[in-house]
Amino acid sequence: MAVAVGECRGPLLEARGVVKVYPDGVVALRGVDFALMPGEVHALLGENGAGKTTLMRILYGEIRPTRGEIRVCGRRVVFHSTRDAIRSGVAMVYQHPRMVPTLTVWENMVLYFSSAGVPLGEARERLRWAQEVTGFEVPLEAVVEELPLGAVQRAEILRALAAGARVLILDEPTTNLTPLEVEGLFKAIRNMKAHGVSVVYITHRLPEVMEIADVVTVLRRGRVVASRVDPRGLGAEELARLMVGELPPPPPRPGGRRLGAPVLVMRGVRARGRLELVVDELVVRGGEVLGVAGVEGNGQDELVGVVVGLLEPLEGSVEVLGAPPRGVRDYLGRGGGFIPGDRRKALVLSMSVAENAAFLVYAHRGPLLLTPGMLVSLYERIAREYNVVAEGPWAPVGRLSGGNQQKLLVGSQLLLEPRLLVAVNPTRGLDVATTSYVRRLIAGLAERGAGVLLVSSDLDEILELSDRVAVLHRGRVAGILPREEATPERIGLLMGGGVEAGGTGGKGA
Ligand SMILES: Nc1ncnc2c1ncn2[C@@H]1O[C@H](COP(=O)(O)OP(=O)(O)OP(=O)(O)O)[C@@H](O)[C@H]1O
Ligand SMILES: [Mg+2]
Repeated sequence: MAVAVGECRGPLLEARGVVKVYPDGVVALRGVDFALMPGEVHALLGENGAGKTTLMRILYGEIRPTRGEIRVCGRRVVFHSTRDAIRSGVAMVYQHPRMVPTLTVWENMVLYFSSAGVPLGEARERLRWAQEVTGFEVPLEAVVEELPLGAVQRAEILRALAAGARVLILDEPTTNLTPLEVEGLFKAIRNMKAHGVSVVYITHRLPEVMEIADVVTVLRRGRVVASRVDPRGLGAEELARLMVGELPPPPPRPGGRRLGAPVLVMRGVRARGRLELVVDELVVRGGEVLGVAGVEGNGQDELVGVVVGLLEPLEGSVEVLGAPPRGVRDYLGRGGGFIPGDRRKALVLSMSVAENAAFLVYAHRGPLLLTPGMLVSLYERIAREYNVVAEGPWAPVGRLSGGNQQKLLVGSQLLLEPRLLVAVNPTRGLDVATTSYVRRLIAGLAERGAGVLLVSSDLDEILELSDRVAVLHRGRVAGILPREEATPERIGLLMGGGVEAGGTGGKGA
């Protein structure tokens, strides 16, 4: 069964002269024109806070434009809610899942179908069709919160397609995916395109743009600076320049530093989290960056948990800065820094930027009493040194763009010069310039004598920063390579070894 694709020849979805001023006065969009043609993959680029998510939330009916209009297939429409958008064939999959975590996948789909006006009698058949097009299989009876993020995302794409989406908006969709899952997503996008579905693809990852996008639009501070350009004609470097102006220099290459005393020593460690972690020996010395590569879910969480004191080992010894960590407070209080992989676990979105900063910086080793004046000056320092763009100290963190939330988190962990930094995907969701900036901060920290345990699913990041690379596979250290030997091929080989097929596993409908 084919879902009707409509007879649209001109733009399928358009924004014309869209201005968005948020209730607190932030001007996120300053008169934006955007057009999506049938059957195209249209990448939307721009630095953190440029207005990408805002524009798409408007096109998806989640928020209303202050001025300007939306057109679907040439006709002016007013979306009062996402329900209106879905019924017009526009769907959006956010960076973080929107399914109800405590319900099953199927229950979530039924909710969505009923608001999209899909007759439930057709639901199974449409879903089967969507599975055929995308190649995605999802376990329909599984409870959402028990599924990995990638599986939830696939379920969200499936339900949108099954509900008749002709426009699919993906906001940084690969942030939480393994390389294999990314491959699966790209295949699905190509097939959806062949079935007449248009895709808006928001990302900071330029190689992905080169691979998947037909055209590119670039936003900068709420304005369009390039419209519908050909990414391959322009090249990645030019795109990056369009996004951020001048590009900062890359971090100094590692190596040649004098190493200090060990700041992390693990011996004979066995621990159990979601899987069993076994580490015979792992040492990080002051002045070095030890990169940890691996397909996500191969023991990274467990390793990080053991180091920062969140997970108690069953056997073996762990010494962090000279003593075994007794909980995460103890770890931080002793001069450890921690950038967790999911910033929403560290930030309180409803609280202000200043309060979050104080929380992160001082909670474990600070003055007992913090005056508002101290909060403001802390905020100003972090905002200045780490380039956090916020409306002011008292703006709720939830209103910052994703990238600015991440900079706040990174800044608050680097501010007190930790002697050991555990950083998990520290540049996730950051734009090109900020990524390079944060990487230089991390390199600089090691330069000044701190040890860094860098856990990242971004191999380029690992290769750029690490003195040595440890590869995790099924909870074990499959190998530790010095930087001269750490080629993508060798790391890939250690990572692989017939690991789970990532992309489309699980039970089908
Ligand atoms: N609900 C909100 N209330 C007030 N300001 C907001 C709100 N959401 C976003 N903003 C602000 O609007 C601007 C654009 O934010 P937006 O989230 O659209 O950026 P983005 O391009 O998606 O950035 P990123 O790459 O970091 O996700 C930013 O200055 C942001 O702080
Ligand atoms: Mg965004």
